[in-house]
Amino acid sequence: MIDIKDIFVRFEDHVVLSGVSLHVPKGSAVVILGRSGVGKSVLLKSIVGLLTPQRGSIRVMGQEVIGMKPSQLNKLRKHFGYVFQYSALFDSMTVRENLEFPLRRHAYLSEEGITARVEEQLKLVDLVDAIDKMPSELSGGMKKRVGLARAIITRPDIVLYDEPTAGLDPVTAREISKLIR
Ligand SMILES: Nc1ncnc2c1ncn2[C@@H]1O[C@H](COP(=O)(O)OP(=O)(O)OP(=O)(O)O)[C@@H](O)[C@H]1O
Ligand SMILES: [Mg+2]
Repeated sequence: MIDIKDIFVRFEDHVVLSGVSLHVPKGSAVVILGRSGVGKSVLLKSIVGLLTPQRGSIRVMGQEVIGMKPSQLNKLRKHFGYVFQYSALFDSMTVRENLEFPLRRHAYLSEEGITARVEEQLKLVDLVDAIDKMPSELSGGMKKRVGLARAIITRPDIVLYDEPTAGLDPVTAREISKLIR
């Protein structure tokens, strides 16, 4: 599903990734561990083309991501769910609207289907009561759980989780890990 070969990422004279390779077969779950600032988030962003390594190759489902045209990249991104480290919810949208957003972009469900899917996802992360709230009214952990629900709502082939349980209490963290599995 993902095949990374010898990538190199530098910000001015600060080398962040050098000679990083990673192979992720279909059906597997891979955890990337490392100290703060070593480049875990940079690696994930590179996989979906939010950052472009200066050298190396990143193939996703057989397609080379580095140098890909924006239109192709958009298409490829439909296969991904992405839980950003800092939730990245749309601040001007309610929880419901945040979850509807990716579904409407993919446009394969009816209105009733969308409503049902949103409610089902919120049940999974135990946030049904927050459906009409704005992100500013949620705690950090609640935002994280909404971000997770949004990442998996379209049933993507690949899900990237950037620190999905950081800042959560141990009970919620365990539930999130179970959900990921
Ligand atoms: N857009 C950018 N411009 C310049 N430097 C960046 C950029 N993004 C990341 N960096 C630098 O790259 C390095 C790795 O950052 P990254 O966010 O990948 O770390 P991380 O391993 O995810 O850390 P944490 O565990 O704290 O989330 C850091 O030194 C950071 O300052
Ligand atoms: Mg990070």
